[in-house]
Amino acid sequence: MALVPLSPDSLKTAAEIILSGGLAAFPTETVYGLGGDAFNTAALARIFEAKGRPRFDPLIIHIADLEGLDRIARLEALDGEARNKLEILCENLWPGPLTLILPKRPGVPDLATSGLPTAAVRLPSHPAARELIRLSTGTVAAPSANPFGRLSPTRAEHVLAGLGDKVDIILDGGRCGVGLESTVLDLSGFEMPRILRPGGVSRGQIEGLIGPVGTPDVASPERPLSPGQLLSHYAPGTALSLHSEEEMIRLKPEKDEGYLFFDDASRNRWAAGAALVNKANVRFLSAAGNTVEAAANLFETLHDMDRLGLRHIHAEKAPDEGLGPAINDRLGRAAIRQG
Ligand code: TXA
Ligand code: MG
Repeated sequence: MALVPLSPDSLKTAAEIILSGGLAAFPTETVYGLGGDAFNTAALARIFEAKGRPRFDPLIIHIADLEGLDRIARLEALDGEARNKLEILCENLWPGPLTLILPKRPGVPDLATSGLPTAAVRLPSHPAARELIRLSTGTVAAPSANPFGRLSPTRAEHVLAGLGDKVDIILDGGRCGVGLESTVLDLSGFEMPRILRPGGVSRGQIEGLIGPVGTPDVASPERPLSPGQLLSHYAPGTALSLHSEEEMIRLKPEKDEGYLFFDDASRNRWAAGAALVNKANVRFLSAAGNTVEAAANLFETLHDMDRLGLRHIHAEKAPDEGLGPAINDRLGRAAIRQG
């Protein structure tokens, strides 16, 4: 399987593959997606199979415009307040890294929604992603294009390494700009909207538009509200632990361990006492400590460090602002290893 550079022709080829029930990996602004026709159950089954993903874990349906939203979601089932919030969110944060959970239309396959009465819908901002959706079925189910439970792909090479020929085509659009999956917001209830998975849009951005949003109760591993609720997820092959800055700078450097700092300042505080470590195993997510930049670098840095054959990776927690909570969510899950 070779990577295919993005072009009008390769987008057309990928769209034809999806139209005929195949799977195409494609870039979005968050991470690469593994796309198939949301209304073709054979294609949906292949998505679960290719990822090794449990079928109780529902997929996000990607649309190219608001017409697509109407084909997936039963907007008339929302009360006036929820509808109003939906309109504000669509206007301000779509296209972009926000997934909305809404009451689904009866025709949406149960396989896509894992039998839930709701569906996850996202309108991505990446122009190639939107063009692919538009040229194919207009409704493309696409989880992140990685084996289930592993690091999400932010480059086409990551897709190739993780899924190889389980995909019919891998479109190469370079590096994903946001680098973290979309924020999943549940708007289907009649209570307060809830963030089911922190991601590329911060809580502050959402609350600034529609007022307070909640966080779900802890779900059981048997029936997670979102796979973000599963304990171990986004895991690199190398064992990882999460530390505060103070804990990080007290670590004694070991040659066969990795050190992932949030910013240059904390790395420098530590490096003063750690001149001997080689560079590849000492990284930071953002020189100046910007959470948006750190999010964009997170998965790529973890993919890179994972290839170094280290015994352990120590990672510093991001501050609790902007995209920091989403970064800490991914690092925290990477730190929990399935037994
Ligand atoms: O940024 C993204 O969202 C990427 C790109 C490719 O768009 N996609 C992605 O998909 O991260 P995936 O399948 O890796 O994660 C989908 C998330 C899961 O946490 C899933 O449980 C949740 O969305 N989800 C889907 N449908 C749901 C529903 N009806 N109710 C609650 N959660 C749902
Ligand atoms: Mg995923």
